[in-house]
Amino acid sequence: MLGRIRELKRELNAVILAHNYQPSDVQDSADFVGDSLELSMKATEVKAKYIVFAGVDFMAEQAAVLNPDKVILLPDLGARCHMAWMLPRSLLLEYKRRYPGTPVVLYVNTLAEAKAEADYICTSANAVEVVKRIPSERVLFGPDVNLARFVESRTGKEIIAVPSNGHCYVHLSFAPEDISRLREAYPDAEVLAHPECTPEVQSMADFIGSTSKMVRRAKESEARRFIIATETGLLHRLRRECPDKEFIPAYQNAVCIYMKRITLEKVYESLKRLRYVVEVPTEIASKVAGVLRNTFELLEVS
Ligand code: 13P
Ligand code: SF4
Repeated sequence: MLGRIRELKRELNAVILAHNYQPSDVQDSADFVGDSLELSMKATEVKAKYIVFAGVDFMAEQAAVLNPDKVILLPDLGARCHMAWMLPRSLLLEYKRRYPGTPVVLYVNTLAEAKAEADYICTSANAVEVVKRIPSERVLFGPDVNLARFVESRTGKEIIAVPSNGHCYVHLSFAPEDISRLREAYPDAEVLAHPECTPEVQSMADFIGSTSKMVRRAKESEARRFIIATETGLLHRLRRECPDKEFIPAYQNAVCIYMKRITLEKVYESLKRLRYVVEVPTEIASKVAGVLRNTFELLEVS
């Protein structure tokens, strides 16, 4: 299957970008594996006609907005981020009416229709930096309430979570008792957690960051063992890139069923049948592109 995928990629001038949570064999088939921020940037850099996006809907939408001249393919239309659907455009507009003039920062895990109504877009890798730079002490932030609390603790600003209960079900599955038990069993291990985990789990971690920041931390740390509080797909990348270190999942069943909708067979079918093309309506796409430009200006990225 990998050979056939490679052949089709060459024929079509296509690349495969895979998120850190993808199944191991899909990660192995990819030209690049990364976190949400890295994948967005990579999508604009690659010189390909087709990009197979092995991830979930909002990531493919974001790539489509940033690359109007490329064809973005999502191998399974059921690969939809559960959290992104918690903030429809209508709900965001309601909050904007309730807090007029308050800047809106949306996590990249949001649908394009909602992003079009935001002022800035962030990922878990740069959320703190984005909010710090906004010239306002109060910010509307959504849809993840745990990331919102993380940003609040790191910036000291008033963060209004939109909606008040937005969350990722995978990251809610980590129990503080499990982390304590693992810490006792492996006292030398570092705990690395994603900012989508609850504040209680975050407070037990030695390091909190996006998936790729966790990989960087594992490479740079002196520790030999790590307890990983994020989706288990990241363990494949960690083990591949740090073969001399040990990685223990904080919870074995922390699996995103939406990410796992993508399989190697579906990646192959996607290339063979050029499906499913992800397109964002022009009006929404140009609004989202404007929001992204605002964000790049804020971060002084050219
Ligand atoms: P990252 O931006 O850290 O890759 O996370 C994306 C995501 O969906 C987390 O659940
Ligand atoms: Fe969405 Fe959670 Fe899956 Fe990430 S892990 S894609 S936030 S449902």
